[in-house]
Amino acid sequence: MLDETILKQHGQDHILEYCKMMSQSEKEQLHIDMDRIDLDEVDKLYEDVYVNRKMIEIADDVEQINYDIKENLPEEKLAEYRSLGLSAIKEGKFAVLLMAGGQGTRLGHKAPKGTFSFNDKSLFERQAEQLNKLFEETGTPIHWYIMTSDINHKDTLSFFLENNYFGYDESYIHFFKQDHVVALSTEGELVLDKDKHIMRTPNGNGGVFKSLEKANLLNEMKDNGVEYLFLNNIDNVLVKVLDSEFAGFIKEKDCDITTKSVQAYPDEKVGRIVSIDDKKQVLEYSELPEGEVNKLENANIGIHAFKLDFLIEAASKPLPYHLAIKNLKQIDEDFSVIEKETLKFELFYFDIFQYANSFATLQVDRKEEFSPLKNKEGKDSIETAQQDLETNQLL
Ligand code: UD1
Repeated sequence: MLDETILKQHGQDHILEYCKMMSQSEKEQLHIDMDRIDLDEVDKLYEDVYVNRKMIEIADDVEQINYDIKENLPEEKLAEYRSLGLSAIKEGKFAVLLMAGGQGTRLGHKAPKGTFSFNDKSLFERQAEQLNKLFEETGTPIHWYIMTSDINHKDTLSFFLENNYFGYDESYIHFFKQDHVVALSTEGELVLDKDKHIMRTPNGNGGVFKSLEKANLLNEMKDNGVEYLFLNNIDNVLVKVLDSEFAGFIKEKDCDITTKSVQAYPDEKVGRIVSIDDKKQVLEYSELPEGEVNKLENANIGIHAFKLDFLIEAASKPLPYHLAIKNLKQIDEDFSVIEKETLKFELFYFDIFQYANSFATLQVDRKEEFSPLKNKEGKDSIETAQQDLETNQLL
């Protein structure tokens, strides 16, 4: 039941107005949606993340992290890493996780971002190809975990099916969905999406750990003998998915978290990996005041490896929500579909870094390893990605 007093207390009684205009089945759906919502939590989310939001300040205790630079490592060391990495992959010590639950709004591509193709080869295929090659080299198939969300799960699955899983052994691909969280108006009100459901949006890539845990996938990895989980973004067209060199580096360092970075450009829209009180963090570009960010040189490129035992420990620990304000399609008071500024709440996967006791970073050359496809035009766009693929002879 929708209790008017309770709804009023939480400033959500506009829902009753919507209700009056709904058909019986829409009303029933609304009741189901509302039953899933804890209004105290919604109030807290709005207060903590929107009303009391602040920009991050770079205080004196923010320091650069220690990092190795690949370019400075002698060829013998790199060869050693490659051989160590290949043996560990062969022994099945690595699994791979692709975060692909995002919306790709900036790119304006109407399908999952991984389906975006250069020369008829999709981003999904480019990543599958690398894992297939590793299988050929080692004889060991790699478990590939792919995170989707409600907005792209079905389309992602169909794309893989239509493409015959890119020759990958289907039983080694594990799709799982991230969770969703309510979106709110700037006044803190629940919103109806265009299908007249209470609007929920993907809870950010930081939902990855709890979703893995919920689906019992961390335990499954453990049972399969996995020791490290390699994780990457969908949109870096130059990503080296579990290259043996990095696998060797991970194995040698044997840290809770091992990460790749590149030297950041001035004002580049990337997170900066830093150390605060000896704990590692990523300060996200969208939350840093302009200019400040340039004091910090290690750019987060979304390539990491987590020790599985660390993840099993840390997956259930709390992560904070971050705010994103987006123009989203929704139903207005007259029941017509409009686009309006809406508050989205997102967890960031790198907030788990605070729980790690050991951390290593390998800074690599961006020309060879980082070209993110974020925008239709301009920086980090279809054009720049295409050029970088050409330069690296990947087209
Ligand atoms: C991200 C990083 C940023 C880094 C940059 C490098 C975060 C929060 N920020 O920024 O520090 O410098 O990449 O390119 O990660 N995703 C989901 N579910 C979601 C949201 C995103 O799976 O709900 C996935 C995306 O599909 C993508 C990855 O997470 O693979 C990164 O997300 P995106 O929103 O593109 O983050 P950026 O702002 O580009």
